[in-house]
Amino acid sequence: VGVAGSIGERLGSALKKCLERLEYRGYDSAGIAVTGTGGITVRKGKGKINEVDARFNFTALDGLSGIGHTRWATHGKPSDENAHPHVDCTGEVAVVHNGIIANYRELKEQLMARGHRFISDTDTEVIAHLFEDYVKAGLPALVALRETIRRLKGSYAIALLYSHEPDKVFFARNVSPLVIGVGEGFNFLASDIPAFLNYTNRVITLHDGEYGYLTPSGIYVERNGEPVNVEDRVRVINWSPESAGKEGYPHFMLKEIHEQPRALRETWAGLDMDYVSKLGKAIAEARRVFITASGTSYHAGLILDYLLVSLAGLDAHAFNSSEYRKYIKLVKEGDILIAISQSGETIDTLMATRVFRERGAKVLAVSNVVDSTIPRESDYQLYTNAGPEIGVAATKTFTTQLMILTALAANAALHSGGMGKEAYSLVLNELEQAPDLVNTTIINVEARVRHIAGKLAVKTNAYYLSRGIGLPIAMEGALKMKEVAYVHAEAYPAGESKHGPIALVNQEFPVVFTVTDDDYLDPLEGNVMEMTARGAYTIGILPSRHYAKLGKVFTEVIQTPDASPYLLTIIQSIPLQLLAYHTAVLRGYDPDKPRNLAKTVTVE
Ligand code: G6P
Repeated sequence: VGVAGSIGERLGSALKKCLERLEYRGYDSAGIAVTGTGGITVRKGKGKINEVDARFNFTALDGLSGIGHTRWATHGKPSDENAHPHVDCTGEVAVVHNGIIANYRELKEQLMARGHRFISDTDTEVIAHLFEDYVKAGLPALVALRETIRRLKGSYAIALLYSHEPDKVFFARNVSPLVIGVGEGFNFLASDIPAFLNYTNRVITLHDGEYGYLTPSGIYVERNGEPVNVEDRVRVINWSPESAGKEGYPHFMLKEIHEQPRALRETWAGLDMDYVSKLGKAIAEARRVFITASGTSYHAGLILDYLLVSLAGLDAHAFNSSEYRKYIKLVKEGDILIAISQSGETIDTLMATRVFRERGAKVLAVSNVVDSTIPRESDYQLYTNAGPEIGVAATKTFTTQLMILTALAANAALHSGGMGKEAYSLVLNELEQAPDLVNTTIINVEARVRHIAGKLAVKTNAYYLSRGIGLPIAMEGALKMKEVAYVHAEAYPAGESKHGPIALVNQEFPVVFTVTDDDYLDPLEGNVMEMTARGAYTIGILPSRHYAKLGKVFTEVIQTPDASPYLLTIIQSIPLQLLAYHTAVLRGYDPDKPRNLAKTVTVE
């Protein structure tokens, strides 16, 4: 983050608050630098923001402008030296950076040969030294910045202080996200909007290749030496600062799980069905449909894949975006790629988007962040309207993705002839009920889930099994359990479980089943029995209509409202999210900040 100007409190305290809002992006070290008439002051160290603040008292810092950073290590381990901001040799330049400078080794060698001394192992430090070189050579600061970024290869969102121009925060963006918050008498810079939402809701999203500076009263942006007018890019964000806060819940994850009825309602309200129908037609007529995403969004992609193949009868392929290279030769004009990314910034998904477009495919982006990079680089955009998601593990962005993708698949199926008008209307009517049914689910299951979490909290392993459309939901349940509770959880097609996984099953081994499709009930029951015979502790997530048949075969049952499999994907996600959450809390972990994970992964 960066701030220039006077905001009625010390800059150090404002920057600290902003950083706390961004902690979900990384939290292994933190630091702040401010500049005033006395030059630049830097305080930084390893640890979460509060820990570093306790050592260095961020809130005591003040100045004319300042920058801050919360880090998720890429180059160089988490340490005091590697924490940002980084300074040059003279101490006149301080810089914070997200992304990766791909050619930093080469640059570092050149700079060292010219006498620069490096303190950290980071790629970021080269930026401070390059800038120092250019200003020493007599270039004005903005030109020095332009020349600096011309030397950089890779991804960056940069904020930079220069002590000779103490009221300015310089910035530059390539690939990594960067937004400006426009204020009265001050201006902000951040990687994400919630950072400064307490101070302003007027936002400008910077584009790749743009750089410039903030002053207390102005914003100046250039690209390739030409001024860029950004005034008409100002948008007003209607997220309240409270919606970016915890609202009384102990964790963002729990708040966001409970927020799903509202998120689904707003997503539904925000859907332009004529546009969805047009996209459904484009998908039905495409030569081939590719679906790409990472993490939780990938599981939403698997649901879409399942529906496009089984419901619409289309030739669809879902893949993890980091594996896009496999498909390069297959992609042709006439193909469509559906790129799903709640943040709209995941680098692998962005790379897949770019490569597929270069090869002639049309790209439809599904994202939660308007004007983020992936939607901006796509031909079509659909937005989930879930509001900011702070918990690192995706919850409300996942179920809202499922809502949109199911509506999209139903439209594709209508156009392909895979589904008749009547069946289509049934699916759409059901989706409209999703907010209410999810609400009922949350109320009905939480006590039961907490009881089961008590059992899982002492386990080290679990299987999540299902058949049909329930499988990606089981996969998502297992991912959640791994991510936040650190219980090793693996999902398998239930039928596949006897080809290996069952070897591990012994007394009290937890096995979670999600039950969705009516067609699979008999073989699924068989799989439960196989587990029971080995002494497993089985947990069945069942819609109420299957209770009569399967209620007694599991050790534990979590009953959900009845719905068709299309909606059960959304409904059954709820107990799985809550199970991971409560297990994490019972094991003493902070589910909002799982170790080693970041909310948005902008490195390959
Ligand atoms: C990270 C997060 C996951 C998320 C994935 C994809 O790994 O920890 O929770 O699902 O990125 O993020 P995206 O923003 O592309 O949906």
